Amino acid sequence: MPGEPVEDTVGGDGVRRRDFINIAAVSFAGVGGAIAVLPLVSQMSPSADVLAQASTEVDISKIQPGQGIKTVWRKQPVFIRNLTPKEIAEANAVPVGELRDPQSLADRTKPGKQNWLVTLGVCTHLGCVPLGIGEGENKGAYGGYFCPCHGSHYDTAARIRKGPAPTNLLVPEYEFASDTVVRIG
Ligand code: FES
Repeated sequence: MPGEPVEDTVGGDGVRRRDFINIAAVSFAGVGGAIAVLPLVSQMSPSADVLAQASTEVDISKIQPGQGIKTVWRKQPVFIRNLTPKEIAEANAVPVGELRDPQSLADRTKPGKQNWLVTLGVCTHLGCVPLGIGEGENKGAYGGYFCPCHGSHYDTAARIRKGPAPTNLLVPEYEFASDTVVRIG
């Protein structure tokens, strides 16, 4: 009919020309969108340096019982401590149910390696670095770590025992790459 819009009168399949044009436009936008996303995804792939920082390997062969070292993982301090039999016994003598953040030493270490305590060196109160990993540093009232900022005391399993910190020092993801190498992250 004269005056009727052409785009509204496509064949017998029920699809009007205007709908077809809209569908085609959307499809094209979809393809364009996919092309636009690709460079973004490749930019988001981690670079070699970032991957290197994602995990870190630490040689623990020189750490004698009673000693510890401070290392860095993802820009955060990490404490690795070789507990003495006495420190292990002290940690295991504490009734877990009485702790503010109830965890046993076994919960916080790897099976068969309870002497190796790996934690972040970041106080769970407001993030100061506690003392106790270095030779002669104040280990607090429970023989583990002491945070001088507001007086949090952690025990030999780095569990919070006194002071404002709400939780134990965090145990990061880690594994033993060998008997003498710990891979953190
Ligand atoms: Fe450690 Fe406050 S930051 S006690």
